[in-house]
Amino acid sequence: MTLAFDHVAVLGTGVIGASWASLFLAKGYRVNAYDPAADAEQNTRSYIQTAWTQLQELGQVSADFDPKRLRFFDTPEEAVKGVQFVQENVPEKLPIKTELYSRIEAGLAPNAVLATSTSGLLIKDLQKGFRDPSRFLLGHPFNPPHLIPLVELLGNDLTDEAAITLAKEFYETCGKVTIRVHKEVPAHVANRLQAAVWREAISLAAEGVASVEDIDKAMTAGPGLRWSVMGPHMLFGLGSGGGGIGEFCARYGDSFHRWWDSLGSVQLNPETIKTLVEGLKAEEKGRDFANLAQERDCKLIAVLKALDKASGS
Ligand SMILES: NC(=O)c1ccc[n+]([C@@H]2O[C@H](COP(=O)([O-])OP(=O)(O)OC[C@H]3O[C@@H](n4cnc5c(N)ncnc54)[C@H](O)[C@@H]3O)[C@@H](O)[C@H]2O)c1
Repeated sequence: MTLAFDHVAVLGTGVIGASWASLFLAKGYRVNAYDPAADAEQNTRSYIQTAWTQLQELGQVSADFDPKRLRFFDTPEEAVKGVQFVQENVPEKLPIKTELYSRIEAGLAPNAVLATSTSGLLIKDLQKGFRDPSRFLLGHPFNPPHLIPLVELLGNDLTDEAAITLAKEFYETCGKVTIRVHKEVPAHVANRLQAAVWREAISLAAEGVASVEDIDKAMTAGPGLRWSVMGPHMLFGLGSGGGGIGEFCARYGDSFHRWWDSLGSVQLNPETIKTLVEGLKAEEKGRDFANLAQERDCKLIAVLKALDKASGS
């Protein structure tokens, strides 16, 4: 699918914005950027070099890729001028986001769509930054957005459906997998799933059931591996021996009810944090942040390539 525009903007080029910018450039878009940090342009250009190598390995770089298509501007008003799609990735603070929206709204092109990457703020609160919020929606990625396919889309009754359709098409031309969130709840869908699993992982560590390292291992060598190929409903349907998810519930429903009743409830208080810090130190075995991030991305690329091959695309 080819969209009728080739010019987008990225506002905020930190962890998420630099990754989005890399992907949009790799897909041949011209990218305008704005970030008030003094070293933002230098950091983003250096991030793009690494991301470009990774995207090239995945066969995700279009022939039009050219880092010169990234242009930094001194103000957000200039950055959004004439573009059809804006991805906002500024800090997770309501006043910063709403102030930015009210600054740029008048200069947006007619029918331009503005998507926020917010992980946890509510669309209904963010809409207060606009006089007309109809072209504003949630386009929530997973870190790093240039590698992880998921983007969660959400609007509400003030959102123009055409804006959501355009965003969906745009993300899909960039190789993303979109889902539609129909009801606004804190943290959307995927982060709620992560939060539920992490709560129990912390509880197991805090209760001394297993070490932090072994809990992480239990996830990556067990359910995590399966979840990268199918979701929990489909997998449990397959766990029925052929009778489907109804049969699975009949067989194992009582067990799950007992397990759910025994799940832990935790707080990230100093004692719990100490358990996690010490446990993770043992798991890291001296590897530093850069090494671990490289290992994560390398393995992610290997999984993405294998899945791509298995699905025959
Ligand atoms: N980090 C994650 O794992 C993750 C994942 C998905 C979504 N998000 C969401 O993405 C957004 C950005 O998060 P991040 O982790 O990239 O944060 P970050 O702190 O790494 O980056 C934010 C950037 O915004 C810049 N900035 C500050 N004020 C600005 C303004 N008025 N206009 C433009 N830029 C401004 C900062 O200089 C910084 O470079 C947040 O809403 C967050 O919830 C984060």
